[in-house]
Amino acid sequence: MNSKKTKTNKIWGERMTSKPSYLLTKINASIDIDKKLYVQDIQASTAHCKMLAKQKIINKDKSNKIIKGLKKIEKEIQQKKFKFSTFNEDIHLNIEKRLFEIIGNDAGFLHIARSRNDQVTTDFKLWIIEASQILKNEIKNLIKSILKLADKNKEVMMPGFTHLKNAQPVLFSHYLLAYVEMFKRDYKKFSNVINNSSENPLGSAALAGTSFNIDRNYTTKLLNFLKPTDNSIDSVSDRDYALEFLFVSSLCSMHLSRLAEEIILWNSDLVNMIAIKDKMLTGSSIMPQKKNPDGAELIRGKTGSVYGYLNSLLVTMKGLPLSYFKDMQEDKKPVFETHDTLILNLKIAKELIENIVPNKNNMKKFSNDGFTTATDFADYLVKKGLSFREAHKKSAKLVNIAERKDMSLDQLSLKDIKKIDSFIEKDVLKILKTENSIYSKKSYGGTSLQNVVKMLKKLKKEFK
Ligand code: ARG
Repeated sequence: MNSKKTKTNKIWGERMTSKPSYLLTKINASIDIDKKLYVQDIQASTAHCKMLAKQKIINKDKSNKIIKGLKKIEKEIQQKKFKFSTFNEDIHLNIEKRLFEIIGNDAGFLHIARSRNDQVTTDFKLWIIEASQILKNEIKNLIKSILKLADKNKEVMMPGFTHLKNAQPVLFSHYLLAYVEMFKRDYKKFSNVINNSSENPLGSAALAGTSFNIDRNYTTKLLNFLKPTDNSIDSVSDRDYALEFLFVSSLCSMHLSRLAEEIILWNSDLVNMIAIKDKMLTGSSIMPQKKNPDGAELIRGKTGSVYGYLNSLLVTMKGLPLSYFKDMQEDKKPVFETHDTLILNLKIAKELIENIVPNKNNMKKFSNDGFTTATDFADYLVKKGLSFREAHKKSAKLVNIAERKDMSLDQLSLKDIKKIDSFIEKDVLKILKTENSIYSKKSYGGTSLQNVVKMLKKLKKEFK
């Protein structure tokens, strides 16, 4: 809007004695953001129009004329020939105004038995359903890359951590599959978003329903919803589905951010567990030696804005009595921005995963640092008859001996180990080795290679 001149709104301006103020027109307009909904708006209007004709609320000729006009508008928008105007407020009125220009006053029959209140939430639900499907695909692509990396490095060992202190040896592949489980849940959660958004609000009109003999089951079928919503007031007031979309996006972003953080950490000069190929690194404008993992850092950084968007809509909604308020127009930006950010983060995460090279030797060495088989030793003692608490104490003693001698547990001699208890036999030497520790974790879901191979097979089948 360049000029400070404003125009009377042709659709709702009849009772106004003056034109709206420039600033009101500006704050009221959402077209710059909600034009993204044009496909859904035309789809929903077409379904509504077909229903009106089927129910003989408008005649077939008018209906065909309206649908033809809507198709033309869709083409104009696709071909970037459509002139969006702030004076026409939002996507619904921009399209309706253009329909008047194309087909004349018959355009005025389209808005029978509906309101922008049910129109906007119908469009938005359709958009969120499609966006969730796209996100599911991106998550699937990421999962497939992680599975590939895990498969390629099935037997690579690394230390598992708690409190960022070396805890127990695990397989790198097992570690990676932990992320697959998280993304698998995100994938399922987006399916739930789709399911929960699949009730059709169209026909709820402003808030009370309508006196026209509409067929809401018919529009439900045409728009691929599962069922019509049951309460007209709830239908126009509800933005739960958008919040659920934002929450699931936040969860998925959190998982991506944790993965990004691990990649940054593993790639640091202090840890040096992985190398990242140059394709995914950036340089420094002052320090010539630098290769920085900016991609991973930005995944982590952008997660902050995704959380912010969830919070912004929660706050927008929290004080609103039923049913519709213009506050709710602020629901779209958080959802659209979140969607774009999450798509980008998922794609970058996939590319990062494809460009990671584990430093196998370092990883193996680290898996033995920090006395990581101390728990295996305690378990060994339990299998010889001690209680776990007793064994825990004795294993701590063994760690003290090794620490004093500046040795790893598997470097201790049988003589030293026997100082802990006389019943200890030669078989203990094997127990203290990291390979054996991993091999022994055969409980369901544990890190043994045998388990990981089975899980990999199962997951590869699931995400073909
Ligand atoms: N642009 C509006 C929105 O996104 C459409 C609904 C307008 N409804 C109304 N009663 N003013 O919320």
